Amino acid sequence: MAAVQQAATALEAVELVKTYRTGRNKSPVTALRGLSFAAARGTVFGLLGPNGAGKSTTVKILSTLAAADSGTARVAGLDVAAHPERVRRAIGLVAQKPGTDPMATATENLLLAGRLHGMPRRDARARAGELVRRFGLADAADRLVRTYSGGMARKLDIALGLMHRPQVLFLDEPTTGLDPQARTELWHEITRLAGEERMTVLLTTHYLDEADHLADRLAIVDHGTVVATGTPEELKSGLRGDAVHIELAEADGRAQAVLQRVPELREITVDGRTARGRTDDGARALPPVLAALEEAGVAVTSATLARPSLDDVYLRHTGHSIGATGAAGATGATGAEGSKGLDASQGLGASQGLEATK
Ligand SMILES: Nc1ncnc2c1ncn2[C@@H]1O[C@H](COP(=O)(O)OP(=O)(O)OP(=O)(O)O)[C@@H](O)[C@H]1O
Ligand SMILES: [Mg+2]
Repeated sequence: MAAVQQAATALEAVELVKTYRTGRNKSPVTALRGLSFAAARGTVFGLLGPNGAGKSTTVKILSTLAAADSGTARVAGLDVAAHPERVRRAIGLVAQKPGTDPMATATENLLLAGRLHGMPRRDARARAGELVRRFGLADAADRLVRTYSGGMARKLDIALGLMHRPQVLFLDEPTTGLDPQARTELWHEITRLAGEERMTVLLTTHYLDEADHLADRLAIVDHGTVVATGTPEELKSGLRGDAVHIELAEADGRAQAVLQRVPELREITVDGRTARGRTDDGARALPPVLAALEEAGVAVTSATLARPSLDDVYLRHTGHSIGATGAAGATGATGAEGSKGLDASQGLGASQGLEATK
């Protein structure tokens, strides 16, 4: 039974804690505070969170580049602390920062990666050819990487991670900085890897649409811990009713109190010029909301209603909007209620043996 579970759960992090020392007389930075999740084999698992949430730190621990202070992690059934060499053979890592040599060609970069993984020369040549074709780089394969566009370089980064046919692929923000077309192409390839090749992909992203589109399951990470986990649909359906989104003409300290007096509206957060809330029936709630703001002299530039999005899920669990936070800003207001229903431990149990497909 244990063996079956091991095979089905390709990635597992349990209560990971990691603190970075930042020098003498400086206070250490706690990057992870008990982060847990599990991902089934052949699925795309997304870690979604703002700058500084702890996504790259998690990837570094799972890929053996950093050691956790406490907690355990298993990759392809192997404990990362006990078997780092075997874990390294089972994984491909595409780090947040490029890993290619700009003064070499794509083919040279790929062959070097093959050699580092101990691949026989002929096998490496064949695999390099296959990968440049698959990523649309065949025509540019013998050009220096220095001359590549951002999208081409990122594709090559991913091809490098795939050279030795890993079981598990880590993609740390694979599409940041890419244009929409390059992003769509990469999305397609990531979906194909999990679907056709049964690869397990751990993807980190700040993009809600990316997590929504790609991830079979995802964990929302904030301040080094998982605040919600589930499929994108589960997370969205955990929210009742419509989201109300109001843009104010200018930031106004009175908005929060005014909106709190409108009985139709709940879960109100005001962040600069943006006010958000939830309501059972958006069409009924909007007139009293606008009337209350007008009566108080708070000028509104736009008001919209929307079905729950992952952004709303994010806001609900973290108290701040993902777009509005930077590394330091992540300490923002916590207006939202605690997570309900979909917490980390539940997600962990639910994904044991799960073979989710989109
Ligand atoms: N080597 C390091 N030394 C000190 N602090 C670090 C180090 N690496 C990360 N941190 C800190 O740990 C926290 C988590 O960083 P991490 O890189 O894991 O976040 P992230 O979610 O990947 O963010 P981003 O979206 O910006 O890539 C941050 O506060 C960061 O400043
Ligand atoms: Mg990062």
